[in-house]
Amino acid sequence: MPDPAHDPIEILKRKNAEAELGGGADRIAKQHEQGKLSARERIALLLDEGSFREIDRFVVHRTEDFGMGDKKFLGDGVVTGSGLIDGRPVFVFSQDFTVFGGSLGEAHAKKICKIMDLALKTGVPVIGLNDSGGARIQEGVLSLGGYADIFLRNTLASGVVPQLSAIMGPCAGGAVYSPAITDFVFMVEHTSYMFVTGPNVVKTVTHEEVSSEQLGGAKTHATKSGVAHFTAPDDASCLAMLRRLFAFLPQNNLDAAPAIECTDDPTRADAALDSIIPTESNKPYDVKDVITRVVDHGDFMEVHERFARNIVVGFARLGGQSVGVIANQPNQLAGCLDIDASRKGARFVRFCDAFNIPLITFEDVPGFLPGTAQEYGAIIDHGAKLLYAYCEATVPKLTVILRKAYGGAYDVMSSKHIRADLNLAWPTAEIAVMGHKGAVEIIYKREITKAKDPAAEQAKFESDYKDRFANPYKAAELGYVDEVIEPRQTRERLIGALRLLRTKRETVPSKKHGNIPL
Ligand code: HXC
Repeated sequence: MPDPAHDPIEILKRKNAEAELGGGADRIAKQHEQGKLSARERIALLLDEGSFREIDRFVVHRTEDFGMGDKKFLGDGVVTGSGLIDGRPVFVFSQDFTVFGGSLGEAHAKKICKIMDLALKTGVPVIGLNDSGGARIQEGVLSLGGYADIFLRNTLASGVVPQLSAIMGPCAGGAVYSPAITDFVFMVEHTSYMFVTGPNVVKTVTHEEVSSEQLGGAKTHATKSGVAHFTAPDDASCLAMLRRLFAFLPQNNLDAAPAIECTDDPTRADAALDSIIPTESNKPYDVKDVITRVVDHGDFMEVHERFARNIVVGFARLGGQSVGVIANQPNQLAGCLDIDASRKGARFVRFCDAFNIPLITFEDVPGFLPGTAQEYGAIIDHGAKLLYAYCEATVPKLTVILRKAYGGAYDVMSSKHIRADLNLAWPTAEIAVMGHKGAVEIIYKREITKAKDPAAEQAKFESDYKDRFANPYKAAELGYVDEVIEPRQTRERLIGALRLLRTKRETVPSKKHGNIPL
């Protein structure tokens, strides 16, 4: 019988058991008390059962300063490796708050960089589960260098492999910039926060009293800043949402967007769509009712649900094919485009285009939101971002004009002129430079003022203008709209067009990169 103290297999088992415990059972218990899962429990929930293959399990830091030489934990506060989600490979890192508060030092950073390098070489997405006190103070500039090494890889991987970040604990200082460069940020409510400088620094510099939650909690970033694309009530639901999003995404930029077998009739005609648009042109409705009636099984994963609600973006499937949906929302700010909506829409369009996900646009937009706040806030630049993103996109682009397509917003929202492939209009479409009231007041100002009964004169001109422009037929005559369809035919038409466009190839002129108005 070999001595267990020297039995090589036993030594390996002991080391493995030590690594599994991270900072120790007490610290894991504390993590649980706070409603948080451990780094390894999170990975287990994220990945297909038993699929995780860890690397660098025995890595430790090399710091001797501040008594760190005696404090080494196998794995150095981050669990890294690869696994499967619904059978598809993914690289993952999960920071372990039980080891030095998940803080990032040289060795910790190197582990993350190693999986990112592998991800880039293999064209496999990366998911980061963040729970960290930021730069490891004892390691000084080595930590800062480690962050920069990660930022560089995030940037190089951007547009090559999807990168998803979940914030499942603190995320302070420079640590927020890695998630910010990635494609989607998830936050867990009440246990996670993100800020560049915390409440104490804020108080010293600006004299504002603010809690961590108010400054950088999930709600703040989901509603005010837009930094968070998704929020979840707890770790488990956050990880389930990550899995759900993953299913809509390809592995990399050379891969086609996923298509699954379609179990919803591609020719399904929903009669309710025919009457979904209110007869009064200014009456709001919920565009999500249109989206869910058109897409497969009504399954729509909304992105940025609580931010810039005047535009709706998210993922769905049409005939089994993963698509990105962008829609103006008439029940918020009448569906106007403003700064936040333009930023939100532009980022989504660019993501889909980078990863070969066709774009479906549902349009009902009265124009850009007027006002000094918008102009001083550079709506010109932000609106141009959305325009630029649509112009640049070469994925299949399908547009359905539901009602208003007014002014510059008509051009921006995936119009024919900026290379949309199929532009459909419902009979309720109104395609014009502006609404009837404003238009008539400008072009018939003199006639109306001189008239005996100005109100009656104005009404007459308005009615005439509406007859001419409050419909899709002028645009259809010009070929700016390819087909005017009955709303119930929308699903069938879109699925048919997607099939036709599967082989679409379109390019932009060769260049280093464009200069999107950032
Ligand atoms: C080293 C750290 C640490 C850090 C936490 N710990 N943050 N160790 N470097 N940055 C350690 C603590 O000493 C403690 O160890 C353990 O982790 C748990 O921390 P607690 O404070 O007990 O936990 P909690 O009360 O939950 O508070 C968590 C926290 C707080 C809010 C994250 O620890 C904190 O404010 N940390 C510092 C955050 C910060 O300022 N980071 C630097 C940001 S600047 P023991 O052994 O006592 O249990 C930055 C620059 C990057 O990141 C720039 C890149 C460009």
